[in-house]
Amino acid sequence: MNREHSGTISLYEAIGGAETISRLVQAFYPKVQADPSIGPLFPEDITPVMEKQALFLTQFFGGPSLYSDKFGHPMMRARHLPFPITPERADAWLGCMKRALEEIGIEPHLQTAVLERLKAPAYHFVNTP
Ligand code: HEM
Repeated sequence: MNREHSGTISLYEAIGGAETISRLVQAFYPKVQADPSIGPLFPEDITPVMEKQALFLTQFFGGPSLYSDKFGHPMMRARHLPFPITPERADAWLGCMKRALEEIGIEPHLQTAVLERLKAPAYHFVNTP
């Protein structure tokens, strides 16, 4: 059972598991690519990034540890160090995520929960003033 705390279902389960993660990632990356502030940081072939993000978000939201099983310790801040991430870029990333969540139509309180969960890592990855 993918439970974060006994008696509490994980955010992963609450939003609808693998199918929702997949739809979220599909909705998110076109917005990222179209964003003038963060789009240029990403490779033209976005498919590998989408696949890794689906594995990562699965585990980050309390589902099975798919990312770590394949790639080892996430060390996500370190993996972002090659890219100059400013506070404005963290805002842009979160803005794309907000619109992706709206687009796939998950319940508003779950949209808020997902965004709240992602806010801390997004600002933690800021490495450039
Ligand atoms: C704060 C703004 C962010 C920016 C500008 C950003 C940008 C990037 C870039 C440029 C890559 C590398 C793409 C490549 O492979 O060339 C990447 C990879 C990735 N990002 Fe972010 N990111 C941000 C926040 C986040 C957040 C909040 C998460 C999840 C909590 C996240 C999860 C990932 C994952 C899982 C990968 C793939 C890592 C791997 O290579 O294994 N990112 N990101």
